[in-house]
Amino acid sequence: MSAAPRLRANANDLQIYERHAADWWDASSAAFRSLHAVNEHRISLLREWLGARLDGAVVVDFGCGGGLLAKPMAEAGARVVGFDLSAGSLATARANSAGGFVVGDAMHAPLGAGCADVVLLADVLEHVPSFERALAEAARLLRPGGAAFVNTLNRTWRARVLAVQLAEGVRLIPAGTHDPDLFITPAELTGAAWRAGLAIEALQGESVNLWRTLRRWAISLRRSEDVSVGYSALLRKTVNS
Ligand SMILES: C[S@@+](CC[C@H](N)C(=O)[O-])C[C@H]1O[C@@H](n2cnc3c(N)ncnc32)[C@H](O)[C@@H]1O
Repeated sequence: MSAAPRLRANANDLQIYERHAADWWDASSAAFRSLHAVNEHRISLLREWLGARLDGAVVVDFGCGGGLLAKPMAEAGARVVGFDLSAGSLATARANSAGGFVVGDAMHAPLGAGCADVVLLADVLEHVPSFERALAEAARLLRPGGAAFVNTLNRTWRARVLAVQLAEGVRLIPAGTHDPDLFITPAELTGAAWRAGLAIEALQGESVNLWRTLRRWAISLRRSEDVSVGYSALLRKTVNS
């Protein structure tokens, strides 16, 4: 069973991205310094999982924000299209990265079926009203054989304590960033992906690199077998779906 989207007051505050839209590329900003640090982990995984296949690929970045992932994808030779609910963030993405950046909702992606070689769902599924719907939209956009990259948080007590109460409490990320009821278990992700015609090709857990996090005061991740807080997945659109 998937999580019901019970939205709590002062949680999953999407206005954060619009309020701090000018700060996306400021690696010291209170709003985004952890996302900058986490990006190193995500880029390393994307390089390993997709590597040379990014060159010339059409990459659609769901909830692209200010383009923190879009830019390295464009630099790797991808043709990037990003969309987001936050118009201010899109303006920042346009100013900092090659690619097309448009207003759009992951529940109804503003692009045609089969247009994408790669879809990015980076730190976005746990923010939308229905992650199943967003995954189905990702599958719709992908060509057969295309790949989706997911990075998200697990719906466990550990994630609730570490990623919400602690991380938001000490302002490693802004208060109100997450609603733990919207977090997604790997089993839920796998099930919804399968129903959307996406097969799991890789699943990678992550742990906090404590000393680096304390030294930089920004959440720094390393690969781990532990999926109890956060994890990444590579999904592949099955040829017959
Ligand atoms: C944590 S940020 C991640 C941004 C970017 N993917 C990255 O990893 O750098 C979440 C982003 O998702 C966007 N977002 C939230 N709900 C959305 C939706 N339904 N459709 C499109 N974008 C959405 C927010 O505006 C925000 O920019």
